[in-house]
Amino acid sequence: MTVYIGTSWKMNKTLDEARTYVETLNGAPTWPGTVQPFVLPPHTVLSTVRATLDPATGVWVGAQNAHWAPHGPYTGEVSMTMVKDAGAGIVEIGHSERRELFNETDRSVNLKIVAALAAGLIPLLCVGEGLETRSRGEALRFVLAQVDAAFAGIPAEDTRKVLVAYEPVWAIGDAGIPARAEDVADVISAISTSRDLRGVLYGGSVNHANAAELLSVPAVDGLFVGRSAWDADGFLSLVSLAAEVRGTSPVPPTPLHAPVR
Ligand code: 13P
Repeated sequence: MTVYIGTSWKMNKTLDEARTYVETLNGAPTWPGTVQPFVLPPHTVLSTVRATLDPATGVWVGAQNAHWAPHGPYTGEVSMTMVKDAGAGIVEIGHSERRELFNETDRSVNLKIVAALAAGLIPLLCVGEGLETRSRGEALRFVLAQVDAAFAGIPAEDTRKVLVAYEPVWAIGDAGIPARAEDVADVISAISTSRDLRGVLYGGSVNHANAAELLSVPAVDGLFVGRSAWDADGFLSLVSLAAEVRGTSPVPPTPLHAPVR
């Protein structure tokens, strides 16, 4: 089984900083083919990351967002085809920061998943409840409703191309409360059994100290990381840890860059 270790750089890194990060990845020892790392840089450095990353690393590159329309008068936006053209093989959709700060809705998330699939990108759907919802005991219901809305009208042969990241909003970022395995195992298992998916990742304050515990959750197919992976060595340490915990195959990494069929 593949274990995915991904990072979104969020709104961080200049071209120089991106090149330095990639140089470290290019110089890293290989990991088993069962571990699939991916990085989601900002749009401005996407093509540079794609161009400078050694294909032999097998690291996927992707975008943090894209619009659902193929083109048109959408000032400031970029389309799925455009991010693919810039080197993305995967696209993040519906992160809680986009839902909260940029009016992303279940409807726009659904449109974006459809558009990503049509463009031949792997959608990475993000879902997760806030603290209040969790305190009311409604986390599971809330998250499954988000997943249902995101997949409205999408057939099973397409849902199985999608990665889902369960990222409880209360666990994300500097003010986040790191989740324990027992806090998230039920929700992850429920997402995983709700439909045929490519995999379910956990995200929110993942770091080297809690990654092994979170990877021990049986239904977890990987980790989606922010701050702890903004430094290339931090990212690589999580990749090696995943290889130790889950990556038993000696197969070399797959040099797959538009990994999406
Ligand atoms: P942190 O790992 O910084 O909490 O961010 C998680 C996240 O939002 C990944 O998308």
